[in-house]
Amino acid sequence: MADGIAPALPELMDQHGRRKRKLRLSVTDRCNLRCAYCMPEHPTWLPRGDLLTIEELLRLTALFVMHLGITNVRLTGGEPTLRRGLPELIEGLQLLRPQGLQRISMTSNGTRLAELAPALKAAGLDDLNISIDARDPALFQKLTRGPIEPVLEGIAAAQTAGLPFKLNAVVIRDYNDSEIEALAGWAFEQDVELRFIEFMPLDNAQQWSRERVVTESEILQRLGTRFGAVEKLPRTASPATEYILGGHHRLGIITTVSDPFCGSCDRVRMTAVGELFACLFSAKGTQLRDALRAGEPDAALLAMIRGGVWSKEAGFAAPRGYVERPITMHRLGG
Ligand code: GTP
Ligand code: 5AD
Ligand code: SF4
Repeated sequence: MADGIAPALPELMDQHGRRKRKLRLSVTDRCNLRCAYCMPEHPTWLPRGDLLTIEELLRLTALFVMHLGITNVRLTGGEPTLRRGLPELIEGLQLLRPQGLQRISMTSNGTRLAELAPALKAAGLDDLNISIDARDPALFQKLTRGPIEPVLEGIAAAQTAGLPFKLNAVVIRDYNDSEIEALAGWAFEQDVELRFIEFMPLDNAQQWSRERVVTESEILQRLGTRFGAVEKLPRTASPATEYILGGHHRLGIITTVSDPFCGSCDRVRMTAVGELFACLFSAKGTQLRDALRAGEPDAALLAMIRGGVWSKEAGFAAPRGYVERPITMHRLGG
């Protein structure tokens, strides 16, 4: 199907026939770390009054689940654990399970999990992705401007609380590519799944260049030298291509740059101020908050959501290079 007006289907579709099942919900733009590729050196935070309230987040998410067939919600940030009322939000989302919500996940830097993991589990969070771009404490400190210990404690707390998790590591040449073997070896020993992420041209400081991308094939070559045979698993709807190391250990690589997976994209994302972005690389979002606050009825909000998603581009063309976008990663949540 080509351009035109979004049909009022019970499923959320784009003009290229891709159905959306996953909503990534940024709940704050704030973060307590300062990864150079994500966060401006001197960030200005969004005014609190501009953020969707917990009630507004629940109302919009309910529309996505009850009328548009969204089955998975992932809470992102900034750092989502800095959002006041996070357990209440997760508790509120439980009410959507009978309406079709199947999974509530969160992507976190892990620093506050030692404190929060039990409450998040009790509220009904299903699983976590925890970012850790270096295993070496000094390098971690240099990259994030924060210590690694709270993250390691957070990972242990997630394990104790019974929250399943995967680890994420963005790989950037001459930044943390020296850590590939150490991170993979550490995850292997603990039998935790790690995903390496190719550096995407969305970084705040415009440091991206093709030379800084460590591609899937280079990562695989290095893993092969360290772990022997690496077996590729069939692709799923996850952005990660999955591999088996040493006969049993799972590891993923997210190949946005060297092998984009846009043809099967099943995601949409909403910022903490209620702007809907159909693609990570979209130049423009659809502002839902103002319509919500103006008292627009559900039907009008649904039409805005359908329209914003329908016009989604075919995808990210890797050769485009650095992408000018009005908001940085810390506001879009990845
Ligand atoms: P799973 O549902 O566990 O597969 O999580 P996820 O990988 O979708 O989420 P996570 O927040 O852990 O993101 C890991 C990396 O994948 C981040 O760098 C995200 O920016 C990136 N990512 C997530 N969704 C997409 C997507 O639709 N397209 C692209 N290109 N990258 C994505
Ligand atoms: N390229 C790849 N991954 C990125 N992330 C943030 N910015 C980028 C980028 N430019 C990752 C974070 C986190 C996830 C939400 O997105 O490291 O793991
Ligand atoms: Fe989907 Fe855009 Fe990511 Fe491609 S780049 S997978 S279209 S969000």
